[in-house]
Amino acid sequence: MKLSSSLSAAQFVAAVMAFGAHNEPPKGVVGPTENFDWADPFHDHRLVNKLSPACSIERTFSANEFQLHDLYEHDPKGLWAFGDVLKTIFQGRPYPGGWDGLDPHMYDRPLLYMNYSDMPIAVREWIEEGERVPENLDDEDEADKKKREARKNLFAVFERPMEPMKKVTKTVTPPKTAAKAAQLRPLDAKRVVIFAPGALYGILPLWVAEAAESKAEGTAGCNGKLLRNLDVYAPKPKDGGTIAWVTEHTEPNRSKGERAMKFTVKVQTLQAAGAAKIGGDKDEL
Ligand SMILES: *[C@@H]1O[C@H](CO)[C@@H](O)[C@H](O)[C@H]1NC(C)=O
Ligand SMILES: *[C@@H]1O[C@H](CO)[C@@H](O)[C@H](O)[C@H]1NC(C)=O
Repeated sequence: MKLSSSLSAAQFVAAVMAFGAHNEPPKGVVGPTENFDWADPFHDHRLVNKLSPACSIERTFSANEFQLHDLYEHDPKGLWAFGDVLKTIFQGRPYPGGWDGLDPHMYDRPLLYMNYSDMPIAVREWIEEGERVPENLDDEDEADKKKREARKNLFAVFERPMEPMKKVTKTVTPPKTAAKAAQLRPLDAKRVVIFAPGALYGILPLWVAEAAESKAEGTAGCNGKLLRNLDVYAPKPKDGGTIAWVTEHTEPNRSKGERAMKFTVKVQTLQAAGAAKIGGDKDEL
């Protein structure tokens, strides 16, 4: 039994509680996250010999980065107001992982906090769709159910607390349909979202799709519709596929009490390398 990785986030939170908020918590052991299927694709040899990017796009986002033990600290150093609800949310699911799919375990597990309206709408739509209970649960087979449950509660959306000393009591329930949600987008300005960095990796192309659709700078050759299609997004490069990674993330200076940081998402859509390379009898290495 792998003790360290089989403890749920809720158990870690419980451990933090038992330990007390004001002691310096012990360090956990950094290890891989179970069931984390993503890996940095940009050093794959296929990219050198067989494939070339049709589109390459990078976008940087601002967030606050907290650690699990910050659930006891008040704003702006901590997530005290959200702690109780986060505990129930995380109870049902394994920790999705930290940066690069690594899990620092215990108290150092990172959590990101963003203004909801700073997330691209494509990402918000994906989150909301995952929280809606499908109408025909009877039609759902085991595989679909597993997929739905893996997606639920990856991101916790809250109304921003109006008073710093007030705890939130629930997450935001998304409107029943995507159309309704689109009408109510202005309300997102009052919301925040909390998630583990590991939750990012399965949907990275959605973070850049809108930039491509609006033909923003640095998106030449990019097709927003293709970027929105997560069916072609995979950990390994292939012709016609999309690959992505978080190529950079700054670390907040915690010793100064800071939590602000930035992370950069890089996404490429791939095609077979041009004629020049075909027929070259280079070895794959
Ligand atoms: C999030 O929104 C709040 C309220 O509008 C603002 O004070 C804060 O600076 C925003 N945070 C970031 C990282 O933009
Ligand atoms: C963080 O802040 C402390 C205190 O101001 C400073 O001594 C330290 O160099 C900073 N660390 C980084 C990585 O900027």
